[in-house]
Amino acid sequence: MCGIFVYSGKREDTAKNILAGLKILEYRGYDSWGIAVKPVDQTFLAVEKHIGKIGEATTGLPTSTIGIGHTRWATHGGVTDQNAHPHTNEDKTIAVVHNGIVENHQELRRMLRKKGYEFVSETDSEVLAHLIDHLMNNEKKSFAESVFSCFNMINGSNAIVALSAKLNEIVACRNGSPLVAGIGDDETILASDVTAIIPYTRKVHYLQDGEGVHIKNSKLPLHRLSDMLFLNLETEMIEWSVENAQKGGYPHYMLKEIFEQKKTISQAVNINREIIEKVSEIVTKAKKVYISGCGTAYHCSLLGSYFFAKSGISASAIPANEFDAFSKTISDNSVFIAISQSGETADTLLAVKSAKSKGAKIVAIINARGSTLERLADYHIPVNTGPEIAVVSTKAFTAQSAVLFALSNKSNLQKFDDLENVLSEWLNINLQEKVFGVAKSLIDSKNIFVIGKYLQFVTALESALKVKEASYIHAEGFAAGELKHGVISLVEKGTPVMVLADEDTKNDVLSSATEMKSRGAKILGIAPFNAPEFDTHIQTPELGELTYLGNVIVGQILGYALSVGRGCDPDKPRNLAKSVTVK
Ligand code: BG6
Repeated sequence: MCGIFVYSGKREDTAKNILAGLKILEYRGYDSWGIAVKPVDQTFLAVEKHIGKIGEATTGLPTSTIGIGHTRWATHGGVTDQNAHPHTNEDKTIAVVHNGIVENHQELRRMLRKKGYEFVSETDSEVLAHLIDHLMNNEKKSFAESVFSCFNMINGSNAIVALSAKLNEIVACRNGSPLVAGIGDDETILASDVTAIIPYTRKVHYLQDGEGVHIKNSKLPLHRLSDMLFLNLETEMIEWSVENAQKGGYPHYMLKEIFEQKKTISQAVNINREIIEKVSEIVTKAKKVYISGCGTAYHCSLLGSYFFAKSGISASAIPANEFDAFSKTISDNSVFIAISQSGETADTLLAVKSAKSKGAKIVAIINARGSTLERLADYHIPVNTGPEIAVVSTKAFTAQSAVLFALSNKSNLQKFDDLENVLSEWLNINLQEKVFGVAKSLIDSKNIFVIGKYLQFVTALESALKVKEASYIHAEGFAAGELKHGVISLVEKGTPVMVLADEDTKNDVLSSATEMKSRGAKILGIAPFNAPEFDTHIQTPELGELTYLGNVIVGQILGYALSVGRGCDPDKPRNLAKSVTVK
């Protein structure tokens, strides 16, 4: 997944503004970045491209009122300046930025080569710039017609934006990968998500699949790509503030988002009580329930299957990228609950489309607004925790899991009444310092094992994932009961083991801790109670079935502390992206 930012309007410092927009979108991909502008007094483009993160970079591009920018997460072609976007045609009068994969790029590349076009990069995206040039110059189509036709000739889930220097116009198309248009006073912004648009305007149009826009003279006609028919440009107002999308004095978004959980968990349940009651009915009546997502969202799904089992409802939690293997078991009296922070993860969308094609009812629990998943869902439950910018997901996980807990049994709704007070009391700088202290002793670990039982087993998986994602230390989550069936062979003198527990699983998990300790393991206990088996203990709030919330928050802070302690970037870990919009 990549980040696209586009500006057209009255401001002359467009390159600087695009750079600022790309910086906000950098969590979508940070291998390389680039900008193309049409300088005020020129008829060809000025382009700047660089590998690596934007960081404190500035731009030397000339003044301009129109331009396009891109921050890349490499899929096709290595991380080089040449492969960075924007890509241009040979005479630099057309520039293109792209998010997605042009699945038939080899074939198009061969066709264009036969027509004499030369390629300078290894990317699938460069095909777009030359194809538009070919359609304009050889097939005498207008710029807009050429971009729309070009888009209709490519396969896959994509969003593209093309800039013409000669016409001072921009044309953008979307099918699959997200694109949002911001309508300001005498200026138009396009971006891969709303966080970069908020500084300019709150009035937005979420481009739907198969839609295209043509920006000229600050007008924004909307077209249906299949036949270029004009469509009505429906707009909506964004609720989030600029502050929401900023660090608010925290050194990193990840830490800010961890501390926002004081409020975001109970808020996610309270703002959705009505739909939770309604959907809970539907789920209870369903013949079969599936819960699915990717990465952290899959762990959230797994928690959901435990919650539903407690209410006597059999719900299968399946990683969305594995769902195909189960699709034959789904039918029109099934409910498919999709979990996604972004609502744009390609694997999750494919699983939803497959379930929908079999007649299943789709329930979607999402954080970001205006996503593809929101439009595919029969029932949409927005957890509304505000923008989650750090690639390592935290507040979305706890909010989405809390909604699943409430969905599994309506009487669970009142279990959130006092949660905000308890978390506000506990989640503070003392806890942070305590966890940072523990992290110091783990900073050089090669392996960390995390164990738990039932809900704490899933919390162990998620805590291990936070440590892996943010600090690159190999951490593995296990069901405590599985230890003696194999993995205990990995334990030796000094092996660090995080033991996650609650009252429900206390005895079983402490006996597993004893077994590991007898092989020399160093036990870090994360639980509402201390125990002699623990070498170190981090106290978490006693919240009954919701105790996993405090335990996972400690796992999140530990992942963060290890990341910072090892000089990593917790907001933009290597090789990861906030959501992966390609299969
Ligand atoms: C990965 C993110 O790309 O996608 C994870 O790095 C996330 O943090 C996963 O859990 C799924 O994303 P989403 O948006 O569908 O919840």
